[in-house]
Amino acid sequence: MDPYKQRPSSAYNTPFWTTNSGAPVWNNNSALTIGSRGPILLEDYHLVEKLANFDRERIPERVVHARGASAKGFFEVTHDITHLTCADFLRAPGVQTPVIVRFSTVIHERGSPETLRDPRGFAVKFYTREGNFDLVGNNFPVFFVRDGMKFPDMVHALKPNPKSHIQENWRILDFFSHHPESLHMFTFLFDDLGIPQDYRHMDGSGVNTYTLINKEGKVHYVKFHWRPTCGVKCLLDEEAIRVGGSNHSHATQDLYDSIEAGSYPEWKLYIQTIDPDHEDKYDFDPVDVTKTWPEDILPLQPVGRLVLNKNIDNFFAENEQLAFCPAIIVPGIYYSDDKLLQTRIFSYADTQRHRLGPNYLQLPVNAPKCAHHNNHHDGFMNFMHRDEEVNYFPSRIDPAHHAERYPQPPAVYTGKRERCVIEKENNFKQPGEKYRSWPADRQERFVGRWVDALSDPRVTHEIRNIWISYWSQADKSLGQKLASHLNVKIDT
Ligand code: HEM
Repeated sequence: MDPYKQRPSSAYNTPFWTTNSGAPVWNNNSALTIGSRGPILLEDYHLVEKLANFDRERIPERVVHARGASAKGFFEVTHDITHLTCADFLRAPGVQTPVIVRFSTVIHERGSPETLRDPRGFAVKFYTREGNFDLVGNNFPVFFVRDGMKFPDMVHALKPNPKSHIQENWRILDFFSHHPESLHMFTFLFDDLGIPQDYRHMDGSGVNTYTLINKEGKVHYVKFHWRPTCGVKCLLDEEAIRVGGSNHSHATQDLYDSIEAGSYPEWKLYIQTIDPDHEDKYDFDPVDVTKTWPEDILPLQPVGRLVLNKNIDNFFAENEQLAFCPAIIVPGIYYSDDKLLQTRIFSYADTQRHRLGPNYLQLPVNAPKCAHHNNHHDGFMNFMHRDEEVNYFPSRIDPAHHAERYPQPPAVYTGKRERCVIEKENNFKQPGEKYRSWPADRQERFVGRWVDALSDPRVTHEIRNIWISYWSQADKSLGQKLASHLNVKIDT
């Protein structure tokens, strides 16, 4: 046996107990005492080590998306899109890439019910031959705000009241009354879609606009969409109360049980693309995250399928320690100027350095599955065993060199420094269209949820009027319905 080759894992277990340093433990039942009644000796190193480990079993939970379930599987290309991207994992139909996926709720704690009205996270890590690609999306295709500067305040408003620790509508409606760009997201959240039946029956979306680059360097804006092959299903409010009341982990259980039973959840991946040369011809800005791209003019193009066919072996290692980041991309896929995406590029790795430590990308679930190399090393919990003597670059002794150059977006930037809102806000059109596309009963449920929210006694007249005015601008009849339910007179 080469003692230096052994890595800690359950495959390297002894049949008997040991301490963390490998010494045999001959009694794992009783503390070491003087006489049969004690006191306990501090020299009971095994007891101290056992308690110290236990005392530190929890790590900080994610600041958002704390509650989640994950599973493994593969992504398979079904359609050739090499005219759009040189991404290696999309190189030809039939190519398969291993993935891990994590679904989540957003606002509440790690043990909260999975039946709450909340967006759902849909994050996919592709372990490609050119490094990992993280598509960190949600089940809704748009987002509440378009500038990342607002994200921490937005989350504070949606999270429980810091005094009572209860989520309260007056705080949410107060904050968002300053942000009419959130209306579109609220047409998803307060719709039936606001409580998915479980994680298998929901759409996914990359939400932010990314870019695809082909090997000639031609760029297209792209939006990614996942569609479940078993269809989208939701829980109506009463059903959610019933399901959540009997099992607060119903979605985690459904995912786990389906995979155990061999009924593998599957989604098809589609893209929509826009040539940036033509971006001005739309009434929305393609890098505005509060907008959807109309499918009648920008059709969904099929790309591949995602199949989840393996449950995780360990929740802590493959869910709590799992770290996704929208900055993690591969050649052939790039960011866009979407301000929210630009903010996300910083935030995820930053929180993960805090939540998991600076070497979180060495953890097996996060590490690339391809060969990788650089001189970022050491720090807390480094467990990379390195024996090279050259840890600087460049060097005439170490042959490590730059990778081959891959295409980058060629855009040229000029402009003065600004802090401002984008020009084409167009906040009301798409929410109104969405509302009008629903049958009457679905519209009624939407109105009912808004009436409930706006009836919170701490929602002021001013805030209630602002919301009625916003919804009137989206759809006049919707505004009138809300006003009449809430006994508010609206200016015409
Ligand atoms: C500027 C805006 C945003 C910021 C600053 C932000 C920040 C964060 C942070 C700090 C986390 C916790 C990560 C961790 O601890 O591992 C997180 C998780 C997550 N975010 Fe965001 N977020 C933003 C917008 C969005 C948007 C637009 C989406 C949807 C596309 C999204 C989807 C997710 C998902 C799915 C997770 C959970 C990933 C997992 O399962 O571990 N976020 N976000």
